[in-house]
Amino acid sequence: MGINQPIHLPPPSQKGSVSLEEAIARRRSVRDFALESISQSQLSQILWATQGISGTGEKLRTVPSAGATYPLEIFVVCGGNGIEAIEDGIYHYNVDSHSLTRHYAGDVRLDLARAALDEESIYEAPVDIVICALYERTVLHYGRRGERYVHIEVGHAGQNIYLEATALGLATVAIGAFHDEQVREVLRLDKQYRPLYIMPVGRPIV
Ligand SMILES: Cc1cc2nc3c(=O)[nH]c(=O)nc-3n(C[C@H](O)[C@H](O)[C@H](O)COP(=O)(O)O)c2cc1C
Repeated sequence: MGINQPIHLPPPSQKGSVSLEEAIARRRSVRDFALESISQSQLSQILWATQGISGTGEKLRTVPSAGATYPLEIFVVCGGNGIEAIEDGIYHYNVDSHSLTRHYAGDVRLDLARAALDEESIYEAPVDIVICALYERTVLHYGRRGERYVHIEVGHAGQNIYLEATALGLATVAIGAFHDEQVREVLRLDKQYRPLYIMPVGRPIV
């Protein structure tokens, strides 16, 4: 497969066996993950919950956004064959087509963990969701106040990852402790991308 050929994810389901209340009650930050890959449909659900399209007609998303300016860009880091039938690498989530585009081949989880004060869960989890922001999309409309809106919005996205992971029998932890510049280098991103959260996702060890 060509390196830039999009990988279309299975369509997300809008039915599950865990109620919203159960997911809220069970949600916990987990930092120990089994050496088990996740399926493409599990990844599909997680990404849909993070930024997927939920409306018909207008392209509104599962997470609210100030003025629908959508400043967040989602990257998926997977290693150790962490996602069923998807090669290790760094992928960008294409919201409109619910697909992934790989922009780097190889397992960079250890480098990502080093950029985050050696946080082991980043290396152990099969998948790390990295939420970055392009501030100018929101700041253009709202000036300096737009920065606040971006920070509020990443919290919405992060909570959806927590709840969706819980509903799927997976788990996550929101990691905010990292060196922005190093994370950007590991992800091979331009300067305007500002990483805000790293969220390892996998099967929890209980
Ligand atoms: C903004 C933010 C940043 C966080 N950063 C980290 C982090 O860098 N490392 C970590 O292990 N946990 C981090 N956490 C997770 C918290 O430690 C965790 O939510 C808290 O201990 C409460 O536990 P619970 O999520 O299981 O309820 C962060 C949480 C938030 C909301």
